[in-house]
Amino acid sequence: MWTFLQLTGVLITFECVIGAEARLKRTKALKRSKRDWVLPPSKLWENTDYTKKEFIAKIRSDKSQEATVEYYLSGPGANEPPFNLFVVNHGNGYVRITDVLDREKCQEYSLKGIAKYPNGTLAEDEIPLNIVVLDKNDNAPSIKLQKGTVKEESKKGTLVMRIKGEDADQNGTNNANLTYSIVSQEPPGKDPMFMINKYTGDLYVRTEPDREKQSFYKLVIKATDMGGAPGGLTGTGTVEIKVVDINDKIPTLEKTEYTGSVDENVDDVVVMRIQALDEDEKFTDNWLTVFKIVKGNEDNLFSIETDKETNEGILKLIKVQSLDLGLQIENVAPFVDGTAYPIKILVKNVPEGPTFAPSTKEIPLSEDPSKIPKDGIIAVFPAVDPDTGEIAEDVSYAKSYDPDNWFTIGEETAEIKLNKKPDRESPFLVNGTYIGKLLAISKDMPPKTATGTIAIQVADSNDHCPTLSSTASTLCSDKNTVFITAFDEDAYPNAAPFSFAIVPEGTKGSWDLEVINGTTAALHSQIALWPGVYELQVEVKDAQGLSCPTAEVFIVDVCICEETEECTPRMNLLKSTSVEMSAGAIGLLLMALCLLLLIPLILITCQFGGKDTVFPEQFIDLETEKSEELMSYSTEGRGDDKVGGSSPHFTIML
Ligand SMILES: *[C@@H]1O[C@H](CO)[C@@H](O)[C@H](O)[C@H]1NC(C)=O
Ligand SMILES: *[C@@H]1O[C@H](CO)[C@@H](O)[C@H](O)[C@H]1NC(C)=O
Ligand SMILES: *[C@@H]1O[C@H](CO)[C@@H](O)[C@H](O)[C@H]1NC(C)=O
Ligand SMILES: *[C@@H]1O[C@H](CO)[C@@H](O)[C@H](O)[C@H]1NC(C)=O
Ligand SMILES: *[C@@H]1O[C@H](CO)[C@@H](O)[C@H](O)[C@H]1NC(C)=O
Repeated sequence: MWTFLQLTGVLITFECVIGAEARLKRTKALKRSKRDWVLPPSKLWENTDYTKKEFIAKIRSDKSQEATVEYYLSGPGANEPPFNLFVVNHGNGYVRITDVLDREKCQEYSLKGIAKYPNGTLAEDEIPLNIVVLDKNDNAPSIKLQKGTVKEESKKGTLVMRIKGEDADQNGTNNANLTYSIVSQEPPGKDPMFMINKYTGDLYVRTEPDREKQSFYKLVIKATDMGGAPGGLTGTGTVEIKVVDINDKIPTLEKTEYTGSVDENVDDVVVMRIQALDEDEKFTDNWLTVFKIVKGNEDNLFSIETDKETNEGILKLIKVQSLDLGLQIENVAPFVDGTAYPIKILVKNVPEGPTFAPSTKEIPLSEDPSKIPKDGIIAVFPAVDPDTGEIAEDVSYAKSYDPDNWFTIGEETAEIKLNKKPDRESPFLVNGTYIGKLLAISKDMPPKTATGTIAIQVADSNDHCPTLSSTASTLCSDKNTVFITAFDEDAYPNAAPFSFAIVPEGTKGSWDLEVINGTTAALHSQIALWPGVYELQVEVKDAQGLSCPTAEVFIVDVCICEETEECTPRMNLLKSTSVEMSAGAIGLLLMALCLLLLIPLILITCQFGGKDTVFPEQFIDLETEKSEELMSYSTEGRGDDKVGGSSPHFTIML
C-alpha cells in the first residue's frame, strides 16, 4: 500500500496541457488506482519559494514495513524536462521542489511515484502524483494593434468594433479580468469621436464622423486586469479606425459656364475637358461623375464620357457635317443633382489648302490657228481658298501632267499657255480632248497641294480633205459596178457625208454614180467593159464642200472571170507558185534579185525573162500614187493555176 502525504492538498493530473483527451486519461487513471487510494490534488502557488521546505509531499509504501523500499519519481519535472524540478528522497519518500514555479509556463505537473525493492523489483504499482500550479496576477494585459472601419455619418452609439485585450494569467480569474478605457485619440479633434464599454471592450461612435474632414483615427486603449480594481496591472494598445466614404457630396463643376472652340472639318476630336469637383473619396463611385448632355445634342454631334483618373468630363465632337463659320453650338451638361451648366462651342476656321473648284476645267479650243489668242493663253485656272471662295493667295502653280507638252502654266498667274498648235488628230487626244494636270501649291509650311485637271477640247477645223480609202478595184468583165469609199481625218461636221462626182475629162469609160450612204458610192459602167485598166477621176467633197486640190484617181482593173464571180486575186498566184517551185525556180531567183535591187528597168526585164513571173501586191498598189506616170502592160498568157489561162495585168511604175 502507498501512503501519500501532502502539504497543501492533493490533485491528480497527467500533463501540462489539459485537453479533453488528457482529462479522459486522467479519469481512467484515477479509476485504476482507486482500488488503492483516492488522491486529492496537490496545489502550489506560482512565484512562491518552496525550495526551503523539507518536503511538499511524501510518498510511502506499506511494503517498507517488511522490507527495504526505495522511492523514485518519473515524468516531466522529474526524470524528464524540466529535469529534477521535483526530487524524492529515496529512503523516506519526501518530495521536494528545487525551483520557483511559473503557471504561465506549466500549470500542472503529472508525476509518478515508484517504490522498488533493492533487487529492482517493483514493490507497488506506480502511483500518480499531480501538482497544480496556482495563478497569481503576475502578467499585465496587452492589446495588439487592431483595425476597424466606420461609415461616415454613423450615428452615436453605432458599434464600431470590439477591442480584445490579452492577459497571460489564468483565464476566467480576476487576474485576467480586463476592463478597458480610451487613453487618447489622434487627431484629438473637437470632441472624442468614440466611446468604449469598460467591461466588454465594445467601441462605439460618440460623434458622427465626416470623412471629408477626417478619414482616419488612431486610438490608444488601456486594459486593466483585476476587473479594473486599483492595483490591477495595465497594458495599452493601438486601434486604427478608417472612416468609410459615403456618397454624401454632390459633384459640381469648376466653372459655372464653359466656352470652347473646335476646328472646322474635324471628326472625333476632344472639344474640352470639364473638371468635376467632388469631395467624396477619390476613385470611388461616390467621386466619379456621370456626365450627360441634356440639351443641344439633338443631332448627336457630341459625346461625353468620364475620365476615371481625373473625374473630368471629356466632351468630344463626333462629327461635323457642315458647320458654317462662326457657328455656335450650345450644350448644357447636367449632373445627378440636376444642375445644368451651359457650354458654348465655337467652330474655328482652320486655314485650308487651296482647291480647284471645279476640279476639272474644260477649255474649248479651235484647231484653227487664227482663232487661238495671239499670246497663246487659252485659259486661267487659279485655285480657290475653300474658306472664302476667293482666288487663293500665296499659291504657286506647276504642271503635273502634260504628255505631249502642249502647255505651260504661269507659276503665279495660273495662266495656261499653248506651246504648240493643237492637233485634233493627235494620238494624245481622247474624243477630241487633251487632258492635262496642274498643281496648286500653298506657300505655308507644310505646303498643301491641290490637283486640277484641264480638258482641252479641240474643236475640229476642216483642215483635211477627203480621200478615197481604196484607190483601185478589180471588176469582172461581165459586171459593171464598183464601189468607192471616202475618208476624212476631220470630224463632224467637217467629214461625212461626202459627195462624189466623176471628172469626165480624166475618166476612161462612161460611169453613173449612185450614192449608197454618207461614205460610199457605187459606180456603174454604162458600157460593156473589156478587160483592161480603166482610170477614173473622182471628186470627193466633205460635208462642208471641201475637196482635195486634185481629183482622186480610181483604177478599175477589168478582168475575165471564169467560173468565179471575181478576178483571181494575185495573192493566189503567189501561193501556187511556191508549190511549183521546181518549174519556176530560176524565175523566182531572178525575182528575188529584182525585189532587192528595186530597179524598174530590171523589173521589166524580169517580167519578160521569167516564165511565171509574179509580183507582190504592194507593187500594184504603188500604181495609184501618180496616175499620170502610169504605163500599162497587158500580158496574154497562161495563168499559173488556170487551165484556160487568165489575163493578169501588171502596172509598173516608172
Ligand atoms: C526481491 O526482494 C523481495 C523482498 O525481499 C522479495 O519478496 C522478492 O521476491 C525479491 N525478488 C527477486 C526477483 O529476487
Ligand atoms: C479563456 O476563456 C475563454 C472563455 O472562457 C476562452 O474563449 C479562451 O480561449 C480562454 N483563453 C485561454 C488562453 O485559455
Ligand atoms: C471582473 O470584474 C468585475 C468588476 O470589476 C466583476 O464584476 C466581475 O465579477 C469580475 N469577473 C471575474 C471573473 O472576476
Ligand atoms: C467618247 O465619246 C463617246 C460618245 O460621246 C463615248 O461613248 C465614249 O465613251 C467616249 N470615250 C471616252 C474614252 O471617253
Ligand atoms: C456604207 O455602205 C457600205 C457598202 O454597203 C458599207 O460597207 C458601209 O459600212 C456603209 N457605211 C455607213 C457609215 O453606213
